[in-house]
Amino acid sequence: MSKPNQTLGEFIIENQTSFKYTSGELSRLLNSIRLAAKVVNHEVNKAGLVDIIGNAGDTNIQGEDQQKLDVYANDKFIQTLTKRNIVCGIASEEEDDFIAINSQDENNQNKYVVLIDPLDGSSNIDVNVSVGTIFSIYRRVTPLGTPVTLEDFLQKGSAQVAAGYVVYGTSTMLVYTTGDGVNGFTLNPAIGSYYLSHPNMEFPKDGNIYSVNEGNYSDFPIGIKKYIKYCQQDEGERPYTSRYIGSLVSDFHRNMIKGGIYMYPKSSKNPKGKLRLLYECNPIAFIAEQANGKASDGFTRIMDITPTELHERVPFICGSVNMVEKAEEFMRNEEK
Ligand code: AHG
Ligand code: MN
Ligand code: MN
Repeated sequence: MSKPNQTLGEFIIENQTSFKYTSGELSRLLNSIRLAAKVVNHEVNKAGLVDIIGNAGDTNIQGEDQQKLDVYANDKFIQTLTKRNIVCGIASEEEDDFIAINSQDENNQNKYVVLIDPLDGSSNIDVNVSVGTIFSIYRRVTPLGTPVTLEDFLQKGSAQVAAGYVVYGTSTMLVYTTGDGVNGFTLNPAIGSYYLSHPNMEFPKDGNIYSVNEGNYSDFPIGIKKYIKYCQQDEGERPYTSRYIGSLVSDFHRNMIKGGIYMYPKSSKNPKGKLRLLYECNPIAFIAEQANGKASDGFTRIMDITPTELHERVPFICGSVNMVEKAEEFMRNEEK
């Protein structure tokens, strides 16, 4: 239940009893992500000063090495989760392999693994455009007190216990789900607290925004090409309008609020699509479904796909349910 002026910390505590595996562990984990996101937010907001305070690879005035923001964000999330001894494993876009955290210690009762895209839309940093962080949380499937294995990370999206994202935009927001709807919290930078600003977020069933990198058009599957043409036809409610930031988090966030569809199809440059199943598509799909939206690869529900690799890619179509179903119809018709 949402209350006016409720902070994220209060909301997490108040709602932990409705979570089926309640033990406070998930709450502590969400609190750690909230904390790391604040630190990253602080750094993202300074990004425009890079020419003044130094570039990645330089040494700053305090003698500290400057880092690229995606590396910085990766380090912050990993450090926070590791030092607070809250999870037994982490997989990140920025790490080739997963990281095991004291998981072989028989006293370690931590049962969650986190998969993370620490900085999403990183090509937008240099030009002062919104970026984000995406995270996905699972219970490990191997026994407590044994080393985590790849199996703990290669779970279907439908097994997620929580997922969320942070958007570092005109304001910073943290949006997450534990499988009981989607709630969004806005950071008040003066106080350093996130306040519940968007309770029970829901996709409109229909929308008029389509988001796709049309620069790749000539390379898209024919079903996607036809769907884009359909969006552009001037019939009644159409043509739709096109909005593409190039940060999945920001494009998705806007479409969830306004109604729309996001597509990153396969192409000859990206034969399996570009986006990563485990720490981009699955968490966004979980949020989409919890907000009455839909996510698929054009044919199959994203959260039903069995992953085979940590960094695997998948075509991604996600957004308002009627729009996604229309795009799927075009895909199916061309497949036959
Ligand atoms: P990341 O910065 O984590 O590598 O992700 C970038 C992704 C996603 O955020 C975005 O929607 C997409 O790449 C944009 O790709 P194009 O520039 O190819 O359109
Ligand atoms: Mn990304
Ligand atoms: Mn990234």
